[in-house]
Amino acid sequence: MIINEQIQNYLERLTPPAPDYLNALERETYQKTVLPQMISGHYQGRLLSLLSRIKQPEKILEIGTFTGYGTLCLAEGLQTGGQLITIDKNDEFRALQNKYFELSGYRSQIKQILGNARDIIPSLNDKFDLVFLDADKRYYPEYFEMILPKMKKGGIILSDNVLWYGKVIDNQARDAETQAIKKYNEILAQDNRVAAVILPVRDGLSLAVVK
Ligand SMILES: C[S@@+](CC[C@H](N)C(=O)[O-])C[C@H]1O[C@@H](n2cnc3c(N)ncnc32)[C@H](O)[C@@H]1O
Repeated sequence: MIINEQIQNYLERLTPPAPDYLNALERETYQKTVLPQMISGHYQGRLLSLLSRIKQPEKILEIGTFTGYGTLCLAEGLQTGGQLITIDKNDEFRALQNKYFELSGYRSQIKQILGNARDIIPSLNDKFDLVFLDADKRYYPEYFEMILPKMKKGGIILSDNVLWYGKVIDNQARDAETQAIKKYNEILAQDNRVAAVILPVRDGLSLAVVK
């Protein structure tokens, strides 16, 4: 978390409550998974929901489902008859995803795809209004080039963890994730096919609109 813990607590307190099924999913994610901190969680989840409600997407793509928390937040803004496609390479979260997709009422609008997103994205024939990039940080620049031709004009690309625990400003950080995220942030800042800002939300969430 980039911002002061007391400020974060203040923000949490003033954020609207999530639906009960999402609170239950968050609890179960902490009980049953090894890296529960990967979950978007309450504060970021409400922001995802809000952005999706503003955009009212017909098609959403999520890269990195995990237990489906972000999926269900984004689904709240889907148009009637809209669809959310979510990709994850790991099938061990399927049972949890399915349980809460059923409980939420969004089950019929969500399509889960199992596999490596780098193989799957090129095979998708959809045009997206909203993409949430939240997996495999080393490949963010490649994902950007894969996604862009599949975006509608005015579509939005949300990317998580773009401040990478603050390592983006650490010149000693040489790991592949930090290098890739720094490159990605520079691309978003300079590429005139998009306009983007980084929000200091949690570990950094960037918001880009396709021109
Ligand atoms: C940070 S978690 C996603 C959190 C989720 N979007 C949320 O909002 O709660 C990242 C997920 O990406 C998946 N993942 C990592 N590399 C991947 C890849 N190459 N293709 C597909 N999924 C991948 C992991 O299995 C993990 O479940």
